[in-house]
Amino acid sequence: MKLLHIDSSALGANSVTRELSAAVTARWQDEVAGLSIDYRDLDADPIPHLTGRSLAKVNPAETEESERILQQFLDADVIVLGAPMYNFGIPSTLKAWIDRVAVSGKTFRYTADGPEGLARGKKAIIVSGRGGLHSGQPSDFQETYLRHVLGFIGVTDVEFVRAEGVSYSPQHRADALAAAHASIPLPQRKAA
Ligand SMILES: Cc1cc2nc3c(=O)[nH]c(=O)nc-3n(C[C@H](O)[C@H](O)[C@H](O)COP(=O)(O)O)c2cc1C
Repeated sequence: MKLLHIDSSALGANSVTRELSAAVTARWQDEVAGLSIDYRDLDADPIPHLTGRSLAKVNPAETEESERILQQFLDADVIVLGAPMYNFGIPSTLKAWIDRVAVSGKTFRYTADGPEGLARGKKAIIVSGRGGLHSGQPSDFQETYLRHVLGFIGVTDVEFVRAEGVSYSPQHRADALAAAHASIPLPQRKAA
């Protein structure tokens, strides 16, 4: 089984999502024998914005990198996405990654009956960190967007590990982190 671990927080060692996404990955590594793990830190190693030049494949190095990012996504069985809320949405570094994996003809296509997701059979664990409280609120353009775009490309098995209200007080942060650690989903064991 292959797990792709992505981080996008700009807060380094102080990041809630980095702590939690590392914990998710470590738990899966403990549970799944022979799990292979790919990692990308989108803050330390950002992907260029998708531009007209990207679509026209003007720069061979960029095209190759784009294809490698897409293939890494296609190869993964489980995707652990560290996804902080920044300005009610996701970090632009994470959006740049999504722009490389949501590719017409590869991960989705349009048919006479509407769009069809092609990246089926994967599981996504979205590690969500937010300073305020947004669950179920109109201000949530982060988790709702991620669920929608992943579903659009065929990833419908999506679970959230969420720490929110972390900016309210140190106690809120500690409580939210503890609850998030306790909610980490594990692989489903096959019945004996
Ligand atoms: C640039 C920036 C923008 C942010 N925007 C929001 C926001 O719109 N709403 C919110 O509730 N928290 C916001 N926050 C707080 C973060 O969501 C919170 O710090 C969370 O822990 C981020 O995850 P991280 O610690 O892994 O980076 C923002 C933080 C930063 C650094």
